[in-house]
Amino acid sequence: MLDSIAKVEAARKDNIAATPRRMTAEEKSDLLAKFHPDYRPDKFMSLSIGPNKGEKVPLELGALLQGRSRVLDLNVDLNHPDYDVDVLVIGGGGSGSSAAIEAHEAGANVMMVTKLRIGDANTMMAEGGIQAADKENDSPAQHYLDAFGGGHYAAVPELLRKLVCDGPGAVQWLNKLGVMFDKDENGVMITTHGGGTSRKRMHAAKDYSGAEIMRTLRDEVLNRQIPVVDFTAAIELILDDKGRAAGAVLMNMETEEIMVARAKVVVIATGGAGRMHYQGFPTSNHYGATADGLVLAYRAGARLLYQDTLQYHPTGVAFPNQIFGALVTEKVRSLGAKLVNREGVVFMHPLETRDVSAASIIRECNERKLGLETTDGLGLWLDTPMIEAIHGAGAIEKRIPAMLRMYSKYDMDIREKPILIYPTLHYQNGGIRISADGQSDIENLLVAGEAVGGIHGRNRLMGNSLLDIIVFGRNAGQEAGRRYKNITPGTPNLNHVDKYESMRREAGIETANASPMLLPDYTRRREAVAN
Ligand code: FUM
Repeated sequence: MLDSIAKVEAARKDNIAATPRRMTAEEKSDLLAKFHPDYRPDKFMSLSIGPNKGEKVPLELGALLQGRSRVLDLNVDLNHPDYDVDVLVIGGGGSGSSAAIEAHEAGANVMMVTKLRIGDANTMMAEGGIQAADKENDSPAQHYLDAFGGGHYAAVPELLRKLVCDGPGAVQWLNKLGVMFDKDENGVMITTHGGGTSRKRMHAAKDYSGAEIMRTLRDEVLNRQIPVVDFTAAIELILDDKGRAAGAVLMNMETEEIMVARAKVVVIATGGAGRMHYQGFPTSNHYGATADGLVLAYRAGARLLYQDTLQYHPTGVAFPNQIFGALVTEKVRSLGAKLVNREGVVFMHPLETRDVSAASIIRECNERKLGLETTDGLGLWLDTPMIEAIHGAGAIEKRIPAMLRMYSKYDMDIREKPILIYPTLHYQNGGIRISADGQSDIENLLVAGEAVGGIHGRNRLMGNSLLDIIVFGRNAGQEAGRRYKNITPGTPNLNHVDKYESMRREAGIETANASPMLLPDYTRRREAVAN
């Protein structure tokens, strides 16, 4: 390893200037097909039941979508609800908070329910920034083209259009709420590039952008005194006799007490799925990221979209093992640090999209054998000292202090030495299908944030997730605020659960998997590894 570091250091000056050419479209397709985890047929299954029957889904998600409802053995009294509200928001992250704030602003009686605490979410873990085309040399159209190409031309046009057109307003909204964005001495927001962007439109709060945004949103929810029921999971949706969403069955995570929340509009904002550890990958995600919303909506009859595409962030921590899989923000590369193989060679263009970058790293390590062995697998160098060589001493402390601190806990100084990285499971590109007003296939069931499928197509660009949680979170809240006044509640029921159970039996699916998963079970994973 020390030999390899010496090669990286010796090549650093030349490597700063080195820019390998961008891959052609054909080269990218070949690379993805051979090395991206989404293209491994043995890791996917075909769904046997439900709205996406016959479609491809990761094995782990398929087991949950076709799993056993947690309410099957319970006697749930829907007629004496514990809570009765206009708008029920399921999820305590950025999109749920944005939805709750906007619905409250519209006058609705809103309640948030979250299986952990408000802010325990992927939003809090986001580092690099939020994209918005608000500079003179940029436009939403340019943003659209970057994201559409980066997502393999698969984004749902009306969703992507909304994302980019509402982007500048979303950043302004956050700024007014009090997010402390990086600004220059004239108060102008500083913006940088991300992979796949043709303009500098990444707005950041150093490298804890998500934490800063979540801090602000949480304060706003609390200041408005919106009720937040924490440590309480939604384990099933309730529909009414017209097939419309009408609330959720809740479970207290500590006592397992079952409760019922009735609502005129339900917003699913349950976030991602990294803790499913697809294909055994480590993850940059929050502890609660277990695809719960997808399971609830699917069982109730909502279609999913692109449920077979995941994002593996190119730069997850490969060493030290205490933080294995944690995020090394793309901002490190935006600031000039390059990926370098064990021989000290820069092997790819720094601005390739994430799927291409991740596949390129996997090829470099596995096929070309130009990675290094770490305690938990393989890794390649991210040459962080390049940043100060380019921007001068102090740049790392100023622009990416969270990275500096994360590594310093393990006596590693990223200003002095390069770090080892390998792709980590980061984002669920697919999710519940919605229209531009946030509506799923089920009337009055709205969806926002990472639980939505189709905004980004089959690959997302950096910074478009923090943007989508704000744009589509606010959108869902505003839509709920418009709707609730005109809804007369019907008779609540859980008939869809019985129907799904019959389909499951008819399809011969035997399973003990209770779904949704709610929290990952690391005890079982450890046993599996030990055996
Ligand atoms: O690299 C990052 O900071 C991650 C950003 C994102 O996923 O949008």
